[in-house]
Amino acid sequence: MVEDCEKQSHGSSSSGCRSLRSFFIFTVFLVLFLCYYIIPNELSDTWAVTVGLFLPEKYTIKMVNDSLNAAPIVTSAEPWKPPEPYCVAYPHTYNLVLNEPEKCQKENPFVILIVPVAPSNAAARDTVRSTWGSERLIGDKTVSILFLLGLPASEESETLQQNLLQESEKYHDIIQSDFWDSYYNLTIKTIIMLEWLHVYCPNASYAMKVDSDVFLNVKALVKMLLSVPKQSYMTGLVARNAVVLRDPHSKWYLPKTVYEPAFYPPYALGLGYIFTLDLPEKLIKAAQLVKPVYIEDVFLGLCMTHLGIALTNPPDGTLFNVFPVEYNRCRYSKLIATTTRSMRDQVEFWKDLQKPGPYC
Ligand SMILES: *[C@@H]1O[C@H](CO)[C@@H](O)[C@H](O)[C@H]1NC(C)=O
Ligand SMILES: *[C@@H]1O[C@H](CO)[C@@H](O)[C@H](O)[C@H]1NC(C)=O
Ligand SMILES: *[C@@H]1O[C@H](CO)[C@@H](O)[C@H](O)[C@H]1NC(C)=O
Repeated sequence: MVEDCEKQSHGSSSSGCRSLRSFFIFTVFLVLFLCYYIIPNELSDTWAVTVGLFLPEKYTIKMVNDSLNAAPIVTSAEPWKPPEPYCVAYPHTYNLVLNEPEKCQKENPFVILIVPVAPSNAAARDTVRSTWGSERLIGDKTVSILFLLGLPASEESETLQQNLLQESEKYHDIIQSDFWDSYYNLTIKTIIMLEWLHVYCPNASYAMKVDSDVFLNVKALVKMLLSVPKQSYMTGLVARNAVVLRDPHSKWYLPKTVYEPAFYPPYALGLGYIFTLDLPEKLIKAAQLVKPVYIEDVFLGLCMTHLGIALTNPPDGTLFNVFPVEYNRCRYSKLIATTTRSMRDQVEFWKDLQKPGPYC
């Protein structure tokens, strides 16, 4: 078209050519306008989620910020600063990359299970989905479940993020926030969990954080919850007078410069703890002021102490187990949580417990 016009401009009708040129330029601008403003708005959501970096508002936890500001809690609008050693970067505003904002509204759970898991650990998520994660109705009580992830930090993070997007579309059970998922960032994960529960699941009666390598007896859990307090309640395997580990090679090392006392305040071990839904808001407030040590269960214990709310021991000392319990149908029918040695054990124990016949 341009060439034709150039040729013609050597001829006589140059004004007709000028208007053709104007029309051409107008068309180019129109196309550019469409490309830049309209088309990306349709596509960018998926794209941004896939890339996991550029987050449209729809996916951000800005809603958290807003609603938290309404009941002023979070002071996390501060600029990001590198964390102290053995602490995580908090207070800070983290965004949600994947969310299930209507989960609780739709399912109206009695208890919601939050399972922190590494982005790459699809096998653990599938194991949970095919076992205790599939138990959604106990009597008339609904149980909901969500997996909680950070961003994959590995080299294959782009492929991994693509897969996560598909997994999320298939199961609708993933929440992902924009911090790098790593062992030393688990405290961030726990805080995101509290923020999410406060905003998106305030009406559930109970929440349980449960690790993916844990065998969970959902029936026993619901049975216990029917007769425990409905407010200011947290239970699990409560550690009391736990010694602070000062050996730098320990997995849970914490130097005196970060935490001075020789003992921790009471805290519920991270394998599985339960709390009422009035606590997230209070714990988030406390988290603004308590030193964000990287050991997530200890951190929650510090927040509970800050709030002056005591942890409660479970009604029975055999319900929560930090060391794998040898399989025994009777024993497993009564316990609530135990760590397991492998995903295979987790599946086999669960399957056996589903079989009809007496437990004991
Ligand atoms: C969070 O709220 C504060 C106070 O209203 C505001 O200054 C800040 O920009 C908000 N942050 C985000 C990410 O919206
Ligand atoms: C919680 O319950 C209130 C009052 O019944 C209701 O208005 C609100 O939509 C519920 N919120 C969620 C997230 O389920
Ligand atoms: C924790 O997440 C933050 C935010 O994404 C990141 O800057 C930091 O490097 C992460 N820390 C570790 C130990 O992965």
